[in-house]
Amino acid sequence: MSTYFSMRDIVKTYHVGDEDQMVLKHVNLDIEEGEFLSILGPSGSGKSTMMNIIGCLDTPTSGEYILKDRKIGSLNQHQLSQIRCHEIGFVFQQFQLLPRMDAMENVELPLIYAGMGLDKRRQLARKMLIRVGLADRMHHYPNQLSGGQQQRVAIARALAVNPTLLLADEPTGALDQATGRQVMELFQELNDEGRTVIMITHDLAIARHARRIVNILDGVLTEGVSEYD
Ligand SMILES: Nc1ncnc2c1ncn2[C@@H]1O[C@H](COP(=O)(O)OP(=O)(O)O)[C@@H](O)[C@H]1O
Ligand SMILES: [Mg+2]
Repeated sequence: MSTYFSMRDIVKTYHVGDEDQMVLKHVNLDIEEGEFLSILGPSGSGKSTMMNIIGCLDTPTSGEYILKDRKIGSLNQHQLSQIRCHEIGFVFQQFQLLPRMDAMENVELPLIYAGMGLDKRRQLARKMLIRVGLADRMHHYPNQLSGGQQQRVAIARALAVNPTLLLADEPTGALDQATGRQVMELFQELNDEGRTVIMITHDLAIARHARRIVNILDGVLTEGVSEYD
């Protein structure tokens, strides 16, 4: 196995008014390709800040983030957006589907950004929706779908560009327990196919679906779940 990414002494500080708040406190984390990791922590502990840095949506105040042998701090905006578009699939708590587009069109969206032609992206979007079990919902709009189905559309959209990393921030936070478990089973299948999966959650039962758990508490990252046991 080879290293997917490596975080070394990552610090993130936010400045609000006259105050400095250190939200990530010297975080070190190494992920192997093909891992399924949960980042577990309560609200306000720094989970989304971690996700933003892992997903190249934000940069740390100090420290080094190396993603597949590239020093992320030395890349320009274009290079970062290329990584986000082609290598990482994002899944969010509130699905973030576009309400005026049906399931197909939502899944096609990242493929439009990737420059794929109409026929090819229709075909691929259809395949992805079948993959997540929505063969019979392709032309439903988000408000015509249940929460679990909307999250499946969002997962199909995340998978469309064939990312090597699936990065999910509280993906079951808006779902009931049974539906959340189904989404976790889907993540496990995607991980079995060789994709690296990182899931952020405040819910220990959900976190336990991953093979490895790290705990974040007040910006300090530690291996395991001791604080919760
Ligand atoms: N853009 C920002 N500006 C200032 N403070 C922020 C910003 N984003 C997050 N924070 C603060 O950082 C801390 C961690 O936030 P966050 O990473 O969203 O936590 P979590 O996702 O675990 O709930 C919180 O105290 C939050 O108020
Ligand atoms: Mg959050």
